[in-house]
Amino acid sequence: MRRLTLVLLLCLSLSSAHAQQAGKPKSTRSKAPTASTSLAPKRGQTDAHGHQWWQHAVFYEVYPRSFADGNNDGFGDLKGIASKLAYLHDLGVDAIWITPCFPSPQVDFGYDVSDYENIDPQYGTLADFDSMVKEGKKQQVEIILDFVVNHTSDKHKWFIESRSSRNNPKRDWYVWRDGKGPDQPPNNWISIFGHSAWKWDEATKQFYYHAFYPEQPDLNWRNPAVKKAMFNVTRFWYQRGVAGFRLDAVDTLFEDPGLKDNPTKPGTNQYGDQNQDRIYNAKLPEVHDVLKELRKVADQSHAVLIGETWTPDLASLKEYYGEHDNELQMPMDFLFTQVNRLSPAEFRKQIAGVVDSGGWPVYVLSNHDIRRAYNRYGDGSHNDAIAKLMAALYLTIPGTPIMYYGEEIGMENNDPTRVEDVKDPIGKIGWPKEKGRDGERTPMQWNDAENAGFSTAKPWLPVPASYKTHNVATEQKDPDSILNFYRNVLKLRHDDEAMLDGKYVPLNETDNNVLSFLRVDGDRAILVALNMTGEKQKPAFDLSAQGFGNPQPKVLLTTMKSGSGTLKALDLEPFGVYIAEIKK
Ligand code: NOJ
Repeated sequence: MRRLTLVLLLCLSLSSAHAQQAGKPKSTRSKAPTASTSLAPKRGQTDAHGHQWWQHAVFYEVYPRSFADGNNDGFGDLKGIASKLAYLHDLGVDAIWITPCFPSPQVDFGYDVSDYENIDPQYGTLADFDSMVKEGKKQQVEIILDFVVNHTSDKHKWFIESRSSRNNPKRDWYVWRDGKGPDQPPNNWISIFGHSAWKWDEATKQFYYHAFYPEQPDLNWRNPAVKKAMFNVTRFWYQRGVAGFRLDAVDTLFEDPGLKDNPTKPGTNQYGDQNQDRIYNAKLPEVHDVLKELRKVADQSHAVLIGETWTPDLASLKEYYGEHDNELQMPMDFLFTQVNRLSPAEFRKQIAGVVDSGGWPVYVLSNHDIRRAYNRYGDGSHNDAIAKLMAALYLTIPGTPIMYYGEEIGMENNDPTRVEDVKDPIGKIGWPKEKGRDGERTPMQWNDAENAGFSTAKPWLPVPASYKTHNVATEQKDPDSILNFYRNVLKLRHDDEAMLDGKYVPLNETDNNVLSFLRVDGDRAILVALNMTGEKQKPAFDLSAQGFGNPQPKVLLTTMKSGSGTLKALDLEPFGVYIAEIKK
């Protein structure tokens, strides 16, 4: 069995002079960690437990407009991303998912693709992409692209052809229908981004369907030619070295061919539309056939498919893995993101549910559509401590985490305060109830210079004032920073087999203040105790039922300055994190 060899962690060992004495750990903040050396298998290989590379990799979402600006025009680009891969490797990231960087009119900031097999000039060229992949290999960071499967841009040549006449060979590549009458769309479906999901086309006198903006017409996945063309897109990128895709909006791939009206529900949405139950235009069973076939193509390249899977419960999440684990390897568990408070009971329930589902868990705390975790969980006065607590939670449970850029430095939302400043169209349509997603998409904070070191030009979105303290350069120097906490916990995760493969055993399941669990690996285990309150807590751990009758804890990582007592009465500071090794 592998043992931790880290100098950092050894220096935290307790003298263990007293049985059950958790002792006085030195803070992990006394040293900056060294770069990670992962136990995770490489692409195409499996470890002793049969796990593949993506099961032990740490993923990190990059929003290319906002990550790093290589040419100082105020927008991020691929050269910028490539220049930061060494930073990401050093942080402990194994793969990046880049949100769409393909040619696009940018109505939905790249989620309206006008050419799937090229790079938007704003982000660079295919040659820049190839150089980034090369640099990724050097830094051991795999590249995952975003595959916008449900719709194209209305400026895509396929749609331009499709709308040119009712007889065009590409007419049936999209969903065209007659209306119920003049100015009356074919049915009552509403767009996820507000108002009717049908747009009238004056030239050919029919409506086309769009689950999102009108500039994002839905592809007709019932047409085999569409399927073939889209599958070939994945092959094109696999040949260029990508290690997988995040599949955008998979839920909406198919619609009921009979176009039945959705049943309505009480109330209205943030855009003022009558609510409805999207039973005829979301989560249709046909999506699973497509996923199975996409998976076969992915397997030929040892690639991973991550899904944007909004599911109401664990049973529906489970469906996305496929009955024989032959669909998405990594459907994202968004139920986890909906626990918007520090509730041990809720997190316990979510973790147990997904662990017991049999699928490989995939955790996210936030992304480019979800308010940043720093704001969602922060209480306003202990936000940094809470950011570390949340990192310790989702980076130590079994499964694959997908970090969001800037989370590791405690970036916060910077929401627009005036509608005229809003860039994200949904913020304009839904103002003031829906302010859009600009707040979570602001430039990465690299240092405390102007524009947070992102660009010398005015960035496309304003950086929040917190960049002066919450930025990479400043935090790198501070052993106590959120950044160094992330690096420590990621290093632990990469280097310790119990963190990777250890069995998850929840502890003290009725404790409403402290979330605690073991990761058991044979005759040793890692104990994680997380104080989710602003008060001191003193949980007691009797681990004899788990076979650890007389554990001699060795603290591996903690955020606490003071001693932590004994396992019979562990002293946890407000929002304190305690991670220790125990042995039989
Ligand atoms: C989900 C993406 O995450 C979101 O940003 C986008 O607006 C929609 N899909 C439409 O593509």
